[in-house]
Amino acid sequence: MMGLKLRYFVFFLMWQAVNGDASYSFQEEMKRGSVVGNIAKDLNLDSRRLSARNARVDAAGNRKRYCDVNLSTGDLIVANRIDREELCGEKLSCVLKRDLVLENPLELHHFNLHILDINDNSPQFNEESINIEIRESADRGARFVIEEAHDADVGQNSVQQYSLQNNGNFILAADGNTIELVLEKELDREKQQEINLLLTALDGGSPQRSGTVVIHVTVLDANDNAPVFSQAVYKASLPENSPVDTVVVTVSASDADEGVNGDVTYDFGHVSDDVKKIFSIDRKNGKIKVNRAIDFETVTTYDLRIKAKDGLGLSCYTKVIVEITDVNDNIPIIYVKSLASPVPENVKPGTEVGIINIQDADSNNNQQVRCSIQQNVPFKLVPSIKNYYSLVTTGQLDRELESDYNITITATDEGSPPLSCSKTVQLSVADINDNPPVFEEQSYSAHVTENNKPGSTLCSVTARDPDWRQNELKDISYDEKNSKLTSYLIIALVSVSTFFLTFIIIILGVRFCRRRKPRLLFDGAVAIPSAYLPPNYADVDGTGTLRSAYNYDAYLTTGSRTSDFKFVSSYNDNTLPADQTLRNSPSDFADAFGDGDDSPEVGTCFLS
Ligand SMILES: *[C@@H]1O[C@H](CO)[C@@H](O)[C@H](O)[C@H]1NC(C)=O
Ligand SMILES: *[C@@H]1O[C@H](CO)[C@@H](O)[C@H](O)[C@H]1NC(C)=O
Repeated sequence: MMGLKLRYFVFFLMWQAVNGDASYSFQEEMKRGSVVGNIAKDLNLDSRRLSARNARVDAAGNRKRYCDVNLSTGDLIVANRIDREELCGEKLSCVLKRDLVLENPLELHHFNLHILDINDNSPQFNEESINIEIRESADRGARFVIEEAHDADVGQNSVQQYSLQNNGNFILAADGNTIELVLEKELDREKQQEINLLLTALDGGSPQRSGTVVIHVTVLDANDNAPVFSQAVYKASLPENSPVDTVVVTVSASDADEGVNGDVTYDFGHVSDDVKKIFSIDRKNGKIKVNRAIDFETVTTYDLRIKAKDGLGLSCYTKVIVEITDVNDNIPIIYVKSLASPVPENVKPGTEVGIINIQDADSNNNQQVRCSIQQNVPFKLVPSIKNYYSLVTTGQLDRELESDYNITITATDEGSPPLSCSKTVQLSVADINDNPPVFEEQSYSAHVTENNKPGSTLCSVTARDPDWRQNELKDISYDEKNSKLTSYLIIALVSVSTFFLTFIIIILGVRFCRRRKPRLLFDGAVAIPSAYLPPNYADVDGTGTLRSAYNYDAYLTTGSRTSDFKFVSSYNDNTLPADQTLRNSPSDFADAFGDGDDSPEVGTCFLS
C-alpha cells in the first residue's frame, strides 16, 4: 500500500518538475538506500553517463546530503537517517534544497526534498505529575489551568485531544491549547484530602499515540466545620464540700477542620457570675474543676452552659448538669419550743411538760435524727409530728424528793459518720401542799404553876412542813425575771395598801367627827383596826386555858378578790414571828397573783 501511494506522489512531482525544480516527497525515517525517485529520468539525463560525468548530490556548506544518486540507475536514494522533527521542528512543511552536480560539462540542477511527517512521537507532558492545591471552599465551576502536552509531530500527528479519568469532582475543558480542570462538585477535605487524576493526551496519528500525567490535587482546609461536643448533655455528681481543684467532668469537642480551623478551646457560655466563681474550666482540655466550697444546703444542682470555639470563631454549645450530693456536714440542732417549768408535783404520769423540735439542715439519711434523754429521770420523749417530740412525765413527781431535774436531750443523725448534739434543760418541780405540818414531838407535856400571869410562856412547840412555802425559807430562790416582776408587784401592792389605809382613815375620821367621840383605833402609819379580824381568828381567854395551842392563818390579797392584803398573826411571837412571813411575802404574792383561783393555803394542826 505504501509503495503505491509513493508512486502517485512521484508522478505528481514529475509533472511539477516541468515547471521548475524537481521535488521529491517522502516520509522521514526511511531506511538507508530506499529509492525516493529517479532523478536522471526527471532531468532527462543519460543514466549511462552519470558515472562518467561524476554525478553527485551536493549540499551547501558542510550540511548532510541526506540523498545520493545510484550512478548505475540514476535513482535518488536515502543516504542518512532523516528525522523530520530534528530538521524542521514544528514547521508544518519540511523542505530540503539540494543540488545535482554533473561534470563534463558542468551542470547544476536544483531539486527539493519534501520530508513528510510520520507519527513517530507520542504526546508528552512536561512533568510526570502535576500538583495542584485547591481550597475546599472553592466554588463549583472554578477552573484550574493545566499545562498542555506536547507532541513533536505535526498536523494530525500532534496532540488532538485529552481525556480525564472519571472522578467525582472534576471535568476537563480543553479549548485549543488551553486545558483546564473545572470543579463540577465541591470538594470536602474532611471526606477526601487528596485526589489523583489521570490525564491522557491523544494525537491524531495512525496508530494513535498517547501520553499521560497524574494530576495530584491536595484539598486545603477551610473552616467549614464547627466543633462538635461528644455529648449533648454531660451529667456529673459531686459531693458537697469537695476540695478545690476536684475535676467535676471533662467536656470534649472535636473539629473536623485542621490547624487553626480545628483548634478547639473551651469556655463557659452564658452562666451566672456565681457559677463562674464556683467552677473553673480549662480552656485547653475542657476539665471543669471545683473552685471553691460547694454547699448542698444552698444549691443542689448546677446547670452549666459550655462553649467550644475553633480558631476562627465557629462555636457550639453543650450543657453540664452537676448534681450536688449531700454530705453529713450539719449537726442537728435542738430547739426547746416550750417548757412548762415549774411543773406542779402532782401532775399525772404522761403529762406533757415540754415540746422539743430537732432540725438538721442535711437531707435524706443525714437528716434523719434520733432523739433521746438520759435514763435516770422520770421523763421520756414521745415522737410527735415530723421533727417534734413531746417531753412527758413517766412517773409521779415529788418536789420533796427531787425539786430540780437537769434533762439532757441528745439528738443523733443517721449520717455516716453520724453527728450529734445535746442540750440540757432545767425543769423545776412546783410545790403542792401535799404534806401536813408535823410536830417534832408526838406529845408535849408542861408543868404550870398555879396563879401564873396571863401571857407567860408555858412551853415551846415546833411543827415542820416539808412543803415549800412553809419550809405562816433558805431554799427560796428567785430567778431574775420573777424578781423584777416581784418588785413591780411590791410597788403596786404598797400603792394599793396606802390608798386603802388612807381610805379607812378617812372613813374612820368621818365617823369620829360625827360621833364627836374622838377615838383612834390605829397607831402609827400601819395599823390594823381591831374590828377587822379574820372570821376564824382563834381567841384565848384571860384565864389562860389553852383552847387552841397554835394557829396561823394566811389571807391572801388576790386580783379577783377584794381588799385583803396578806396578814398573819400568831399567839406566840417566839414560835413564828409575823415579820418573817412579811419578808417572805413578795414571792407569795407573785404566786398568788399568778394563780387567782388558788384557795389560800391553810395548814392547821391542833395540840390537845
Ligand atoms: C544501483 O542499482 C543497481 C541496480 O539496481 C544495484 O545493483 C546497485 O547495487 C546500486 N548501487 C548502489 C550504490 O546502491
Ligand atoms: C443542774 O445543773 C445546774 C447547772 O449546771 C446545777 O447547778 C444543778 O445542781 C443541777 N441540778 C441537778 C439536779 O443535777
